[in-house]
Amino acid sequence: MAGKTAERLDKILSSQGIGTRSEARRLIRSGRVSVDGRVLRDPAARILPENCEIALDGKAIGYKRHLYIMMNKPSGILCVSRDEKAPTVLDLLTEDLRRPGLFPAGRLDKDTVGLVIITDDGDFGHRVLSPKNNIVKRYHAVLDRPVGEEEIKRFSQGIVLKDGAVCRPAELKILSGGSNPLVQVAITEGKYHQIKRMFAAVGRRVLRLRRVSIGNLFLDENLKEGEFRELTEAEMALIFENQ
Ligand code: URA
Repeated sequence: MAGKTAERLDKILSSQGIGTRSEARRLIRSGRVSVDGRVLRDPAARILPENCEIALDGKAIGYKRHLYIMMNKPSGILCVSRDEKAPTVLDLLTEDLRRPGLFPAGRLDKDTVGLVIITDDGDFGHRVLSPKNNIVKRYHAVLDRPVGEEEIKRFSQGIVLKDGAVCRPAELKILSGGSNPLVQVAITEGKYHQIKRMFAAVGRRVLRLRRVSIGNLFLDENLKEGEFRELTEAEMALIFENQ
């Protein structure tokens, strides 16, 4: 069962972002790593990480099989794991939250801000992203022109994008009117530039876009753009809660 397999000590350390495998081996051989208070010098020693206290230089490492992080993505940052030229959401993370295998569960455009979940749990990422799970994602958008009942109806019937792709029915709500209205759109899929293209199909341009929720998990309003924190278990459950 996942989470209950004995694993090599060097692999465990590097999975937690404590050096590469060979750096972890060196730390272990030099006697800096203890398990339940006993120094272990064999990098190949197998332990159940959830059942032991692993310490480096006497300080517990706080083993976690996976990380689940909520970020308020700022504009200008790429929502990918790695890029040669531009900074990514992973580059914003502090050292204590860096580890191999992290990725953003879902993409936002470079100029889109708001809720991003970063994890190293592939199964969880797949559950969040799979359109089969019908997880609602809510966005707030500022538009270049007013919208009304006509657009609300077209969104609810399923917008046909300019390239002919048909979107699932989506909920469009006007949060505040005026010449540059603020609207909320709820969608259950994630086509490329979907929100911008849905509005383009009804002759509107998105001036600003912010993701505010994934499922019933809403962006923590205390997180400023660029800030992040780990999710609680209760918050993770909200993602998959019946919508
Ligand atoms: N739809 C868009 O057009 N852009 C995003 O970043 C997310 C959804």
